[in-house]
Amino acid sequence: MAVTVKTGTEVRSPLDVAKIRADFPILSRAVNGKPVVYLDNAATSQKPRQVIGAMRAVFEEYNANIHRGVYEFSEQTTAAFEGARAKVARFIGAHDDREVIFVRNATEGVNLVAYTWGRENIRSGDRIISTVLEHHSDFVPWQQLAKDVGAQIVMIDVDDDGRLRREQLSAEIKKGAKLLAITHTSNGLGTVNPVKEIVAEARAAGATVLVDAAQAVPHTPVDVTDLDCDFLVFSGHKMLAPPGSGGVWGRIGLLERMRPFLFGGDMISRVTVEKTEWNELPWKFEAGTSSYVDAIGLGAAVDYLEAVGVANIHDHELSLVAYLLPRLSEIPGVEVYGPKTLDDRVGVVSFNIEGIHPHDVATIFDREGVCVRAGHHCNQLLMTRLGVAATTRASFYLYNTTDECDALLGAIDRAKKVFKV
Ligand SMILES: Cc1ncc(COP(=O)(O)O)c(C=O)c1O
Repeated sequence: MAVTVKTGTEVRSPLDVAKIRADFPILSRAVNGKPVVYLDNAATSQKPRQVIGAMRAVFEEYNANIHRGVYEFSEQTTAAFEGARAKVARFIGAHDDREVIFVRNATEGVNLVAYTWGRENIRSGDRIISTVLEHHSDFVPWQQLAKDVGAQIVMIDVDDDGRLRREQLSAEIKKGAKLLAITHTSNGLGTVNPVKEIVAEARAAGATVLVDAAQAVPHTPVDVTDLDCDFLVFSGHKMLAPPGSGGVWGRIGLLERMRPFLFGGDMISRVTVEKTEWNELPWKFEAGTSSYVDAIGLGAAVDYLEAVGVANIHDHELSLVAYLLPRLSEIPGVEVYGPKTLDDRVGVVSFNIEGIHPHDVATIFDREGVCVRAGHHCNQLLMTRLGVAATTRASFYLYNTTDECDALLGAIDRAKKVFKV
């Protein structure tokens, strides 16, 4: 049964947030004379000492290029890099470390699949199913591929609560599609799609499925074996790790058949003037010097998330949504977009204040030390569907508190007073 969020709906957080906050040096900073209230976690997360320390240790203690040297530093860096891959693989439920390819971010991950599997398998007249919830990173690469090869993009709509129209999706899957590229969790509204059920339906109808899990892996338990998808992408910087880290998971059989994405060093096994043979997985897809320090930081982030428990983080975020949503909805002139229940959502809350542009809202918030995102959130298809140019978005993570929700509510009050609405 859907838990409709009303004032008084209390959801207890399982986290010791004060202890967690002590791990994040940046959270003790002040902005414009006020304690920083960082509510832009869907854009990027802050980093704990443990991640910063793991990266500093590389530079201070054993830095050398990976996979190349036979001396101790190089072997140590290589072991840390491949160790991070093993941690990531375990974290997302992969059977085999070779199925995890390090990339700079989710965007690069989608492009890797679009330029390799996509251009080898999608032909003129083929159908690619996408949704209005997609981030531009999981739409534009497919749109461009469709233009290049003459394929057709089929769009799935959402209902007024920002949930996918399942019956429309099922009908389109039944008509046949080469690819379904779908977000696990919407960065614009916080909606969590019933991905497992959708993947089963699409694959049974013969489609290959790519899941964009950029907003899922940091916030909810994700298991690729359980989801049974074909490809899954995510970004490290949204899950406590540095920018420049991220991954593509792919079914080993598919990865083995795909040609490389980028060509050059490290991704080869033998080069002659006539031809080049590719390296084994996953290195076939990791051309040039990898962002190995970032990947090692990602491994440390996985350690941190596992110690706290991603399911606990999810429950914590829901406790904040249960606190904020009813209070927000009671403010005259505030319109909230997306799911109004606690089911199948994460801690993303999008809203607008009537009579104030979101950019002005965010500017007033900044004076109060409150960091939120204002704009289209790389979701212009969704903004068009909602009939707005932009929204203000607060997005939570493991270190946020109900006091910070109060600071946000206070900042809204301030913005309304300044703009006299
Ligand atoms: C759902 C989703 N997909 C993809 C991306 C792209 O992530 P990145 O910019 O790290 O490549 C984002 C970033 O906000 C996102 O929220």
